[in-house]
Amino acid sequence: MFTILTGAQFGDEGKGKIVDLLSQDYDIVVRFQGGNNAGHTVIVGDDTYKLHLIPSGVLTDARLLIGPGVVVDPRVLIQEIEMLKSAGIRVTPEKLGIDAKASIIMPYHIEMDKLREQRRTQKIGTTARGIGFAYIDKISRDEVRLADLAHKNDFLATMDELAPQKERAILDLGGDPDVVRDSIPDYTGYGAILKPYITDVSYELNIALNHDMNVLAEGAQGAHLDIIHGTQKYVTSSSTVAGSACAYLGVGPKRVDQVIGVVKAYITRVGEGPLPTEQAGEIGDLLREAGGEFGTTTGRPRRCGWFDAPLARKAVYLNAYTGIALTKLDVLTGIDPIRICIGYEFDGQCNEYPPELSSELERCVPVYEEVEGWDQDISGAEDFSDLPAAAQGYVHRIEDLLGVTIQIVSVGPKREQVLFV
Ligand code: IMP
Repeated sequence: MFTILTGAQFGDEGKGKIVDLLSQDYDIVVRFQGGNNAGHTVIVGDDTYKLHLIPSGVLTDARLLIGPGVVVDPRVLIQEIEMLKSAGIRVTPEKLGIDAKASIIMPYHIEMDKLREQRRTQKIGTTARGIGFAYIDKISRDEVRLADLAHKNDFLATMDELAPQKERAILDLGGDPDVVRDSIPDYTGYGAILKPYITDVSYELNIALNHDMNVLAEGAQGAHLDIIHGTQKYVTSSSTVAGSACAYLGVGPKRVDQVIGVVKAYITRVGEGPLPTEQAGEIGDLLREAGGEFGTTTGRPRRCGWFDAPLARKAVYLNAYTGIALTKLDVLTGIDPIRICIGYEFDGQCNEYPPELSSELERCVPVYEEVEGWDQDISGAEDFSDLPAAAQGYVHRIEDLLGVTIQIVSVGPKREQVLFV
């Protein structure tokens, strides 16, 4: 079975927890895009793990893969492997495989990301992890791949060719060009450490599927941060929608069995860009505090707002979800009434689907429906039927608005705080 799981909003939907939960039934969990701009929090018992690159299935028996479409900061990856080792979790090459063609994020990518963002008149609010500049180099065929990094002479030859170009670019942006060559010795060391992990991800996945094994492809970020279909230019630099998993991983679309969307019961966004239902006042603060809405990667406070059905509907179109996991329902406890955005007023019309351009989305005024809230603590519920009628009603209303079955409802950060509908 091949399942693709993606975020349906702006990232931070709680994918890590759902992947951790599902991966107990999967033989392989694979990341297909993005890099350490992503952050997954997985909580098991009293332990909290914050991961950026290693797939969220790390705490189960599944094999973990990082595909060729991922941009890898080797320093961060090695730190994560070490962090898990000190927690008693050994991430050996039997456990983790990284594709030979994964692009390496070099220190000059990070520097350029920061410098470029400082100079933008309209900021994007990137995570400053060098993601966009690493993808630029992939597209322009000036990338350093893991295969290059792992072979010292190839790496040194590549750097000889690339260094002058990168130094000029950093100088142009007003930065210190020494960052390009100073890091080379450290990076040859990283190459040696990561060499045993190298694998051919597409081959591994196709062989696994041929042997009826279960593969879970884990998306990072969310539908509206997609480089093509998202709220440009406030997007990340990779394709975050389900279809891209096939292209990034080298697995044909005929093999896909399920596409799961992870949807938060309200909406959040970090960085700039339109967010029509954003609540700057009391409700926003309440959601941020109750939901712990601070970035896993950058610690930035997330912007919070009411559930936005038009944006979620677009995510359903972009991904063709076969089922949805609704997360953080418990965060809405105590808010009464709860508002759901069911459409937008835009240029004198009411629309149930978002306009294509960010400049148009900025001008949309949400049309809300009010539904009854609940007061009872739902974080200990063991069955969907234990939930107060109003909470069940909220879940069913979202299901109606999206036309996709909600299969899982999460009512707290812990692995066991989950209800199967
Ligand atoms: P970049 O991916 O660092 O280039 O950042 C581009 C935009 O995507 C910024 O608005 C970031 O805040 C946002 N972004 C990137 N990764 C994530 C994520 O994992 N969750 C939420 N937002 C993200």
